[in-house]
Amino acid sequence: MKTTEELKKEVRALLKERRAIMLAHNYQRDEVQEIADLTGDSLGLSRAAAESDAEVIVFCGVHFMAESAAILSPQKKVILPRMDAGCPMADMITAEDLAREKEKRPGVPVVAYVNTTAAVKALSDICCTSANAVRVVESVESESVYMVPDRNLAHYVSRTAKKRMEWWDGFCPTHDRLTTDEVIKAKEENPGALFVCHPECRPEVVDLADHVCSTSGMYSFARETDAKTLIIGTEMGILWRLKKENPEKRFILPSRSLICPNMKLTTLEDVVESLREMKNIVEVPAEIRDAAKSALDRMLEVPRD
Ligand code: 13P
Ligand code: SF4
Repeated sequence: MKTTEELKKEVRALLKERRAIMLAHNYQRDEVQEIADLTGDSLGLSRAAAESDAEVIVFCGVHFMAESAAILSPQKKVILPRMDAGCPMADMITAEDLAREKEKRPGVPVVAYVNTTAAVKALSDICCTSANAVRVVESVESESVYMVPDRNLAHYVSRTAKKRMEWWDGFCPTHDRLTTDEVIKAKEENPGALFVCHPECRPEVVDLADHVCSTSGMYSFARETDAKTLIIGTEMGILWRLKKENPEKRFILPSRSLICPNMKLTTLEDVVESLREMKNIVEVPAEIRDAAKSALDRMLEVPRD
């Protein structure tokens, strides 16, 4: 069996040979994040995929992320090392479901979280990520908005956006599991610690947060805050970089179940195998791709903070 170091060398050599770049989401295994060209949140990785001039993108994340990269860069080959790495929340709404909801609300723009299939994006007006959801909803020229698929993100946006909002009843199983009891217990055990959470957490958990942000937003918050201990309300994969960038601070997970099994599927062996054989290439049919691309492009046009 090869060692981790041997596998890392093999991945880097194959990336060079294939003129490929490797993108890894902030929830990926430590050793996968360690050798990626770029780690980031959904928004950062979408921008990188759109802007990169590599011929091949190896996307270490879940299916909708690689699919978005393929939509944004149709001339590139996008590899998802594990085709079975899906997002259960993205699968909670189908294009047929959304078409039915649109019929009930003629003329109401649909904002689709990027955690959706390409077919759902194709029926949507604009996409958003957790990093820009409030800005995207506010940018829509309509008093009403329908948001899919995450009820928790939609609820979070509805706290600040001056829009009439309705949403689909989907959720992330990993974030939705976090309870107020777990957060309160972690706060009691760590006096003075701040609680930072992802907007995919339930509203009552968000109520307890000192700061709510995307995964990459947590890196900036951790760097800038004076607090020495942070309680982290998101998937445990984020700890690797938080600890690396802030060795003097402590990071506490309030629950043992903050783990997304799909994000943990991809191993270095999978990356080697998919690159060597150039397999697991994500493709999106042209008729869906063009409409889905418009929704993603509109999101990327929304000004940054
Ligand atoms: P981010 O966009 O914050 O990286 O979140 C993606 C995701 O899947 C969260 O569960
Ligand atoms: Fe999907 Fe939740 Fe996993 Fe993110 S953490 S990929 S939303 S299941």
